[in-house]
Amino acid sequence: MFELDGKVALVTGGGGLIGEAVAEGLADQGATVVLTDLPDSDGSRVAQRLGDDAWFRQADVTDETAVADLFERVLDEEERLDVLANCAYPRNENYGRQYEAVDYDDWCENLLAHLGSYYLTSKAAGAVMRDQPEGGSIVNLGSIYGRQAPDFSLYEGLEMTSPVEYAAIKGGVLNLTRYLASYLGPDGVRANVVSPGGVFDGHDETFVERYEQRTVLGRMATPEDVAGAVCYLASDAASYVTGHDLVVDGGWTIQ
Ligand SMILES: NC(=O)c1ccc[n+]([C@@H]2O[C@H](COP(=O)([O-])OP(=O)(O)OC[C@H]3O[C@@H](n4cnc5c(N)ncnc54)[C@H](O)[C@@H]3O)[C@@H](O)[C@H]2O)c1
Repeated sequence: MFELDGKVALVTGGGGLIGEAVAEGLADQGATVVLTDLPDSDGSRVAQRLGDDAWFRQADVTDETAVADLFERVLDEEERLDVLANCAYPRNENYGRQYEAVDYDDWCENLLAHLGSYYLTSKAAGAVMRDQPEGGSIVNLGSIYGRQAPDFSLYEGLEMTSPVEYAAIKGGVLNLTRYLASYLGPDGVRANVVSPGGVFDGHDETFVERYEQRTVLGRMATPEDVAGAVCYLASDAASYVTGHDLVVDGGWTIQ
């Protein structure tokens, strides 16, 4: 049920922390994986590492024309698309500022880039999948912070924060995906969210300590923790699962 032999998967942000693990997981399950990312990303390197059944196509997923070109290329090469995993994390250079320092222009730009790109790629994927007898599976990366408010005590005295845009983006991704599930479901297209907690990526030690204490399983997530959930939702093991938010947070949100 978990096998993806003969299936074609597109992973946006395939050169990123989570995208790489997702691409690898899907390839391990037997899918042909198309990784897409920006030209200066690790996408091409990851595709090479994954071998013959993976290839890279650069695209800015915030650009409607680039997304259309990307899908045209995927269909030219593979003639189908079974899985879309949206793992890109578009943001501008001012993203990540403290709440008071966020300009309205940056708010708009970051919301449009991240939420907008998930809309663009989901729309393009849905159009392909609904015309296939087997349908397809769209998996969008959400976050625990799309479900609940940040715990700001984690960031006290540190430079880092949870950006205000993120709350709106990830809340938006969650409900956009429910919309897609409802609209595309009758045509056999499933749409789900995976909502990870914090994935360790060389964070500040104090932050990690606080995070681990706040989490039932006592650790931050790994990219593979997240990839497992995406691979499940991509496969026939999840054939009756749509509009779901699969939380992968080591128990953060239950307490
Ligand atoms: N890392 C975490 O702790 C965490 C936790 C919860 C949710 N998430 C979500 O998971 C997803 C992936 O996060 P990540 O940590 O792997 O991010 P990342 O920054 O490591 O990787 C994101 C990738 O997206 C690519 N990208 C950025 N803008 C792009 C664009 N315009 N077009 C194409 N590609 C673009 C980047 O080049 C990069 O390779 C995001 O949606 C993020 O919000 C991450």
